[in-house]
Parts: sequence; structure tokens; C-alpha cells
Amino acid sequence: MSDLQNLFDNNERWAEAINQQDPGFFAKLARQQAPEYLWIGCSDARVPANEIVGLLPGDLFVHRNVANVVLHTDLNCLSVIQYAVDVLKVRHILVTGHYGCGGVRASMQDTQFGLIDGWLRTIRDLYYEHREHLATLPGEEERVDRHGELNVIQQVAHVRHTTSVQNAWHRGQELSVHGCIYGIKDGRWKNLDVTVSGIEQLPPQYRLRPLGQN
Ligand code: CO
Repeated sequence: MSDLQNLFDNNERWAEAINQQDPGFFAKLARQQAPEYLWIGCSDARVPANEIVGLLPGDLFVHRNVANVVLHTDLNCLSVIQYAVDVLKVRHILVTGHYGCGGVRASMQDTQFGLIDGWLRTIRDLYYEHREHLATLPGEEERVDRHGELNVIQQVAHVRHTTSVQNAWHRGQELSVHGCIYGIKDGRWKNLDVTVSGIEQLPPQYRLRPLGQN
């Protein structure tokens, strides 16, 4: 028996259960996907995007990386955002961090973990920026959790500053960017209330006119 047999068995039961509930579900999905949401979250195995918000296949376009980082030089993440906004026309981008994030924790420690140290560097920069505020918190867990929230807020800023998002607003497309955080300990998904839905909410220094418009 293959090492993966239990996974194939699980898959058969899962597909069967969905088919029972909604015959033709997969055939319908195969024709097109029209998700309303783009999820940008951590790769952490304890943060399964669809399950957390109770959505089925087809409802959520997903990008995950360690510590849910959005960089303006990351072709992978930028392509996901561009395709989600321009082609799929999602209405909401959900940047979701989580408490107890190992990537966030690593950015606050003096241990090397290898290649990933570079990936996490901007979170370390953010830690440095907020070091005085974070030092006022009583323990390491509180500091990691608060820094996880600050990281989400920072990544929401990065998403809203992308040209994909700004251009969507320029052409009048409805699009909101939200910052949320998930609690591994209690399964709760919390809104950090940093939603932006229009270009007028951006600091003027980040606003860009459309290409070719002076
Ligand atoms: Co994480």
C-alpha cells in the first residue's frame, strides 16, 4: 500500500460528500472560477485558508508564503494580485496573519535559519522600527503576537500600494483590502480594522497616476 493511500482515501470521501450535497459541483467549477476573495496568508500548516472562513473550492483565490509577506519585487505574489484583480475581479483581498507565527518570531531572534532569513528581513526591519513599543509588552508571546499584527498592517499597506490595486481604483472597480489575524489557539479569525477601499485613503506620497497620464 502506498504511503499516500490514506490521503487518496480521504480525497475520495471528500469528493463524494461534495457530490452528494451538490451533484454537478465539480463539473460546474471546471467551467470557470469566479472567486470573490483573494486570501494572502502564511504557509503555516495550521492556517488552512478555505476551512477557516468556511468556503468551498472556487470561492477563494489563495497565495501563501512564510509570514504572509507582500514585497514589490516578488513576481510570484504580484502576479497573483494582478491576476486576481484584473482578470478574476475579486472584490476583497484578505491579508491574514496568525498569532504565534514562526516567521514573525524568527524575525525577532538572533538565530540564523538560512535562506529564509532574507525573506523575513523586512519583518525584522519592522521590528526594529517598533522596538520601543514592542519592548513595553510583558512577555515574548505578547511581543510576537503584536508584531504579527503590525506585520499584517504593513502588508496591507504594501497590497494597497501596488499598481494593480491602484489601477483598479482608477477605473472605478470595487475593491477592498483588509487586514485580519487568525488565532491558532482558538480558531478565531479577527478583523484588524485597517480596511482600505479607495485611492483617496492612501497617503499622497504613494498615489500613482495611471501609466501615460501626466
Ligand atoms: Co506563520
